[in-house]
Amino acid sequence: MHPLPVSQINALIQDSRMLHKPPPKASEVHNKPSENFAEKLDQTKDLLKQAASQFSPCIQASSLGAEDMVITELIHQLDLAVNIFVLDTGALHTETLSLLERVQARASNRSQVLVYKPELSSVISFIRREGQDAMYKSQPLRKECCQIRKLEPLSRALSGQKAWITGLRAEQSNNRAQMQWTEEDFQGGKPITKFNPLMHWSWGDVWHFLSENSVDYNPLHDQFYPSIGCAPCTRAISLGEDFRAGRWWWEDASAKECGLHQK
Ligand code: ADX
Ligand code: SF4
Repeated sequence: MHPLPVSQINALIQDSRMLHKPPPKASEVHNKPSENFAEKLDQTKDLLKQAASQFSPCIQASSLGAEDMVITELIHQLDLAVNIFVLDTGALHTETLSLLERVQARASNRSQVLVYKPELSSVISFIRREGQDAMYKSQPLRKECCQIRKLEPLSRALSGQKAWITGLRAEQSNNRAQMQWTEEDFQGGKPITKFNPLMHWSWGDVWHFLSENSVDYNPLHDQFYPSIGCAPCTRAISLGEDFRAGRWWWEDASAKECGLHQK
C-alpha cells in the first residue's frame, strides 16, 4: 500500500531517530505520482466540472482526510459552486476539528462549509443505555452508534441535493474495488447520484497533489493514520498493514463500513 518500499520508509524513520528529528512527513514519504498522473488529474477535473454544472446543487462530503483535501482544493482552484459538508460526529480527533476550522476559514460564497452534528438527545440516550464504549461491545451496537452519529446527519446533509462527491478510491479496500465514476445511490430513502472523482488515484497520487499544491492536511497522517474516522474507532497502522487496518480494527475486515457507502 505504501508507494515507497518498506525498507526505504524504515530507513527514513531510522535516520530521523538518529538525528533526533521528527518522523518524516506523510507528504515526503508518500509523494509518488503514477506515470499518467496528469491524465488522471484532467479526468478528475472534468468530472468535478460536470458534477457542478449538470447536477446542481451538488455537495462534497469531506471527512477532512487526505483525499477530501484534494477535492476541496480542486473545488477552490476551479472556482466551482459546490458546498462542502463535514459530519462532526462529536467523536472526532482534536487534530481533525482544528483542520475543520482552517477549512472553514477558506470557505467562500460559492463554496460554503456546512457542519452536520448528530441529534444530541439521541447521542445521550444511547450513551445512557449502552455506555460511551458501546462500539467495542458488539457490531450491532457499533452500527447503531454510526447510525446516530453519521447516517442520520448524512441524510440531512444530502437532503435537497442532486449529487454528492466523495473521496473514495478503488484501491482503499476490496469492498471499494468495483466502484464507478458515478453511481446511482440511495440515501435517506431517496435516489441521489454519487461522484467518485478520485476513483482511480493511488495513495502516491494523492500525496503528490497535496505536496505540489502545498495543501493543508490532517497532521495525524504524519503519525501513520492513513484513514481517519472517529477517534474511538481509528488507530495508527504499522508498516505493511492494510490501508484501512486502523479503522474498527477489532472487527472482521470484510465488514468494515459504517454505512455511508453501503451498496
Ligand atoms: S468511512 O465510511 O469508512 O467512514 P472513509 O473514512 O473511508 O469512509 O471516507 C470515504 C469518504 O466518505 C470520504 O472521502 C468522504 O467523502 C466521506 N466521509 C467519510 N467520513 C465523513 C465525514 N465525517 N463527513 C463527511 N464525509 C465523510
Ligand atoms: Fe460511533 Fe465509531 Fe461509528 Fe464514530 S465510527 S459513529 S464513534 S461507532
